[in-house]
This record gives sequence, C-alpha cells and structure tokens, in this order.
Amino acid sequence: MGRSPFAEKLILVTGASSGLGRAMALDLAKAGAKVGIIARRANLLDELATEIRAIGGQVHSACADVADWESLRAAVQQIEMVCGPAELMIANAGLGAPSPLDAESHVREIGAMIRTNTMGVVHSFAAVLPGMVDRGRGHLVAISSLAAYIPFAGEGGYSASKAAVNAYTGSLREQVRPMGIRVTTICPGFITTPMTAGNHGSMPGVMSAEKASYKILAAIQSGREVYNFPLVTVGLLRLLNLLPGWLLRRVITDLGESKFD
Ligand SMILES: NC(=O)c1ccc[n+]([C@@H]2O[C@H](COP(=O)([O-])OP(=O)(O)OC[C@H]3O[C@@H](n4cnc5c(N)ncnc54)[C@H](OP(=O)(O)O)[C@@H]3O)[C@@H](O)[C@H]2O)c1
Repeated sequence: MGRSPFAEKLILVTGASSGLGRAMALDLAKAGAKVGIIARRANLLDELATEIRAIGGQVHSACADVADWESLRAAVQQIEMVCGPAELMIANAGLGAPSPLDAESHVREIGAMIRTNTMGVVHSFAAVLPGMVDRGRGHLVAISSLAAYIPFAGEGGYSASKAAVNAYTGSLREQVRPMGIRVTTICPGFITTPMTAGNHGSMPGVMSAEKASYKILAAIQSGREVYNFPLVTVGLLRLLNLLPGWLLRRVITDLGESKFD
C-alpha cells in the first residue's frame, strides 16, 4: 500500500471528542497524520489522545468553543506552535436540536446552532486561512448536512445553519481557488452518533460513524468540492423536491414531527 496523502501533515479536526469527529481523528492518525483535536470536553479529548498514542499515532489536543472566535483561535495557535502549520482543517463541530416555538427557546436554540454550526465553520477557517494564503496551499473542509437542502418542520434552525455553511463555503471556494486553497463541503445523511441517539423517526440510509469517516476522508483525498452522501438519501431528497407543493409540505411536516416526538 502507498503512503497516505495525509501522512505527516498537521490536520485539525473540530468536534473530535465524539461521533464523526472522533472517528475521523482516529482514521487520520492511523493514516500517519499529525492530528490536532479540538472540542470543549477535555476529558474526552484526553481519552482520544491516549487511544491515538497507544496505536503509535501523533496527536495534540486543545480545548475550545468553536462559537467563540478568541477561544478557537487560541486553540489553533497552541497546536500550530507545537506541530507547525495546518495543511487541512476539518470544521466538524456541530449541534443538532429542534427549534421550539416559545419565544425564549426559539431564540436560544436557533442562535446556538447558528453560532456553533455556521460561525464555528467561519472561525475554524479564519484561524488557518492567513497561513494558507501566505503558503499558497491548504484545504478547508466543512461538515455540513443534507438537511441544508430540505427544511423539515421543527428543524428550521439546524437546516438554516447548514444551508448557510453551504452558501459560505461555495463562495469561499471561488475566492481562494486562485490562491491554491481548496474548499470542500461535505453533506452527510444520517449517521449513528450521540447527535442522532434521540431520533425516533426512521433514518433512511443511516450509517456508522466509522463508515461515514471512511467515505468523507476518501472524498477529501480525491479533491471533491461538494460531497453529498449516501446515494439512497440523496435520491430520496431529489424525489421529494419533485413532489407537488401540497404533498411536499405534508411530507416535511410529518417527517419533522416523527423525528422529534
Ligand atoms: N449524526 C448525523 O446524522 C449527522 C448528519 C449530518 C451531519 N452531521 C454533522 O456532523 C458533525 C458531527 O456531528 P456528530 O453526529 O458526530 O455529533 P456529536 O457526536 O454530537 O458530536 C458533536 C461534536 O461537536 C462538538 N461541539 C459541539 N458544540 C461545540 C462547540 N461549541 N465548540 C466545540 N465543539 C463543539 C462536540 O464536542 P464537545 O461537546 O466536547 O465540545 C462533539 O465533539 C456535525 O457538524 C453535524 O451537524 C451529523
């Protein structure tokens, strides 16, 4: 087997303490990358770092809240000081919650998702962009969601936060392309992680975090600009969008309700 293109590069993964981020950090370490793991829960980052070192991997961790620019910037600087400049940033940290209707919760929950899911990506990219521009190379990856393409009832905040990520990364891609920097937008369907543990409805095409990690890292390696997966869920979304308006409204209401009852 040839040397992995990730080998010996510093790769930062936000939201590495759980679920998909944890799975990607482990896979990247196995591929020989120097992995910089970032999240808020220090104990979980420590456990992951121990696991990575036990398999001979290279890892450095730093705690940060991605919604807080100063906190995230300090964490990235702390890791880069030890490991050198980051070649790849995977902005994965995210929060998924319903959007309740009472005013206080509506503002609080949707605000938290916009700050974490959308501004978290902006902060993660901003922390490494100047260095990438100076060096004329680098790769920025945002973990968005297929929810960016369809607003299920009750999930407005989550869908909006991810649709904003898609619009932002689509624009940034063209802005930084002439500077040798690549931008990839990853839109997964359902993945078995703590985020989906409370879902009651059916989750078509659901896959393990390990399988999703494998697919995402392959897409990053092959230079995909936008990667929507799995095919079965992407196909279902395309079909839904072909439905007449009255029927589509019923489906997005029923599916939204079944997810969060
Ligand atoms: N699971 C799915 O079905 C699915 C589908 C499509 C897209 N996604 C996306 O995939 C990404 C990973 O989600 P997951 O399913 O792996 O969820 P998860 O298991 O709940 O993990 C979320 C991760 O994000 C971190 N995080 C959350 N808020 C943060 C903050 N303010 N600052 C720093 N880190 C924060 C958490 O760490 P701490 O709590 O330790 O900070 C945790 O490591 C998310 O962007 C999610 O929207 C998930």
